[in-house]
Amino acid sequence: MKKWVQKAIVQKFISYLPLSHKINYIFQKYVTKGVTLSDEYFYDRLGHARDHIKSFQKYSDKKVPECSLEIGTGWYPIVPVSFFLAGTDKIYSVDISFLTSKERLGTTIQKFLEVYNSGQLKNYFDFQQSRFDILKNLHNNYDKYSLDEVLQMLNLKYLIEDARNLSLPDNSIDLVNSNNTFEHIYPNILIPILKEFRRVVKKQNGVMSHFIDMSDHFAHLDKSINIYNFLRFSDKQWKWIDNSIQPQNRIRIFDYKQIFYDLKIPISNESFSKGNLNELKSIQLADKFANQPLEEIAKSHCHFISNMKQLEDRS
Ligand SMILES: C[S@@+](CC[C@H](N)C(=O)[O-])C[C@H]1O[C@@H](n2cnc3c(N)ncnc32)[C@H](O)[C@@H]1O
Repeated sequence: MKKWVQKAIVQKFISYLPLSHKINYIFQKYVTKGVTLSDEYFYDRLGHARDHIKSFQKYSDKKVPECSLEIGTGWYPIVPVSFFLAGTDKIYSVDISFLTSKERLGTTIQKFLEVYNSGQLKNYFDFQQSRFDILKNLHNNYDKYSLDEVLQMLNLKYLIEDARNLSLPDNSIDLVNSNNTFEHIYPNILIPILKEFRRVVKKQNGVMSHFIDMSDHFAHLDKSINIYNFLRFSDKQWKWIDNSIQPQNRIRIFDYKQIFYDLKIPISNESFSKGNLNELKSIQLADKFANQPLEEIAKSHCHFISNMKQLEDRS
């Protein structure tokens, strides 16, 4: 049986258990090795942090966001720690489940020290030396602090709540961002979340910056399938395969654009990876995908930036 099928079966089973996220963490840590902080993952998210900051600077007259909000905290808070180093004063990360831990935060900090020592950090974004010194002090005295104290020193606040109903005031966030998260949220939930983002982001000077990975995540583990494998299934079949711990909505770039358009959220800048048409053509696509332009279906990753001033202009 293919590796991805085994993973799908195990995750489906785990998704019905209480504490499914914790059990999934253990499964991924010891079996699929999907949650160790690899260099590949670290530098990918560091690149996202760099691009979020650049996107913000392009459309705002501030150098760094004073207040940021990320959806989808993940295991290692690389983007939030980057914002801290760049100078952000209030960094929110919202998730329905609490996925990080003091140990994983420590691993993240350790990695930042390594990048700094290798002289690479400055190539990503301008960071404040005084903030870096805080990070170094934290690292050297890590055992003395509780998780809450560490979070406080990093200006980081985890909101454990549904992003459809945020406990944040209107017009309070300079930069709303996400990193490989939208693809895990079905449109019936994503649409109310985006409405909530539209409410909390500042309409003057506010920016949204979202990275979306539209590839089949099972292909990250199983090299015998390609990143379009999941498009062979009809919605009905996919419902059986997909699970609630790491759902994949399979929606394509034009679907996201339509959602933004319907909500009147501007896409001020869009970039994407065009994917691999030959790989796509090797898959017998389900009707709902086969009937769409293949070049569009093939797009595998995208980054949308919204200059919220344009929202003001259109309303
Ligand atoms: C794949 S993970 C995030 C990945 C992470 N950003 C990274 O860089 O690795 C997607 C997260 O979105 C969260 N999520 C899904 N629906 C949500 C909602 N309605 N409100 C808040 N978080 C939600 C899930 O709990 C999950 O932890």
